[in-house]
Amino acid sequence: MPVNSTSASNESSVSAALAGSKPLEVVVLAAGKGTRMRSGLPKVLHPVAGSAMLEHVLRTASQLHPKAIHVVIGHGSEKVKSHIGHTCALGNVNWVQQTEQLGTGHAVKTALPDVQKGSMVLVLYGDVPLTPAQLLSDCVQGAAKGPALITANMPDPAALGRIIRNADTNAVERIVEFKDANTEQRAISEINSGIMAGSVEFFNDHLSRLSTDNAQGEYYLTDVIESACADGLPVTGVLAGSPYEVAGVNDRVQLAELERVFQAKEAEALMLSGATLLDPDRVDVRGNVEVGQDCMIDINVILEGEVTLGANVEIGAGSIVRNSRIGDNTVIHPNSIVDGANVGMRCSIGPFARIRPGSDFAQDVKIGNFVETKKTRMGDGSKASHLTYLGDAEIGAEVNIGAGTVTCNYDGISKHRTDIGDDVFVGTNSTLVAPIQIDNGAFVAAGSTLTSKVKPGDLAVGRARQRNIEGWKRPDKRS
Ligand code: UD1
Ligand code: CA
Repeated sequence: MPVNSTSASNESSVSAALAGSKPLEVVVLAAGKGTRMRSGLPKVLHPVAGSAMLEHVLRTASQLHPKAIHVVIGHGSEKVKSHIGHTCALGNVNWVQQTEQLGTGHAVKTALPDVQKGSMVLVLYGDVPLTPAQLLSDCVQGAAKGPALITANMPDPAALGRIIRNADTNAVERIVEFKDANTEQRAISEINSGIMAGSVEFFNDHLSRLSTDNAQGEYYLTDVIESACADGLPVTGVLAGSPYEVAGVNDRVQLAELERVFQAKEAEALMLSGATLLDPDRVDVRGNVEVGQDCMIDINVILEGEVTLGANVEIGAGSIVRNSRIGDNTVIHPNSIVDGANVGMRCSIGPFARIRPGSDFAQDVKIGNFVETKKTRMGDGSKASHLTYLGDAEIGAEVNIGAGTVTCNYDGISKHRTDIGDDVFVGTNSTLVAPIQIDNGAFVAAGSTLTSKVKPGDLAVGRARQRNIEGWKRPDKRS
């Protein structure tokens, strides 16, 4: 899943930082129900920037090049497996079923039998989507001698677990869950992100000592910190740069907040690569976008999937560009949808154009308002300026497609092709019944319905001849 340099989710490899340490295996906790989402969709499948939160976590985890990624699933596990299987090219995810959700400690324990001896284990949460890979790498490195965990200072720490540090040494001593905390502990603003690293032997040992003697009657993963300290193991706390790096999603309000944080970063990355965003708060990126210099992106634009914009490209307000390449100096006018297309240089698309997958335009092509194209190639300088459907068509250079032209590509069973040569003029309101071929330089009279081949330079007239009836008497309302 390539992420280019302009994306905020920078995929610089962090494996070098891990060299020399134990082989890494990642355990992602994703079995919880997510009650507060009030959703039929498992929580970890709710999207941030168009990708499931779990996909973000898996992508970041894979930047650490772990030997294995184990994902603990329970609620909606079939949906989770099939979604990730279908949309994420990360391959080797080992799914671990946790039939009863007895707590985070129990969840990690359920995955441990699948982890190789001698490995380092990094525990991530499926509902914490925006953690930078470098921060995870720092956490893993901190776990060389004892467990390491990522913490953050939160102005409003709400119900998160609080970090208790030794008053003298400032070392992390234990984590107190909000429900088990007293007033003094609740006033602490340093919280537990939940992300933790340690050797598989450490987790095997300390997870087996957990009890459910707490306010929630659960096996808390967090309790391994106190037991590590009791054994004299050093505990490393790695402080996140910003609360958002470790923010989890429990409800849709938090989901929307993280979406905005993510989008602000994406917008910033686009601007820093040389694009002007007329309002950075009103551009959404849901994929990997590469921009050339001096692109201009108007408001309410959505860029989805793999999008490449050349230099000086303009995207008009309200347009959606998905999985497409747009050449230098091309203008997409407002309210256009460009999907799965390859658009050359100096083209003009829209307003209100719908460019569907398989559209391939050379240079200086003009597509005007209310034009739909699908699996259609257009050569240099060709135009379809108004109200047209072009499907399964090969159109040469310098062709003029008149307003209201329709390629009849479907006979109810199969799709058929329309082939139009260079320098062809198709008059207004023409119906081209495919399969059909119109050769170079041909001219199609307005209002024609064509069902057979037109030879080079011929004029095709496929309509009834006009007949005028002299002295015709109009119906008279009064008679
Ligand atoms: C947990 C931490 C808390 C931390 C917070 C950060 C514990 C006991 N508490 O609390 O210190 O501040 O995360 O967000 O660890 N899960 C399972 N199986 C289970 C239980 C949970 O897979 O049996 C998964 C959930 O799907 C979720 C994650 O573990 O992805 C965290 O569980 P959750 O119940 O949300 O923990 P918190 O109460 O938020
Ligand atoms: Ca949570």
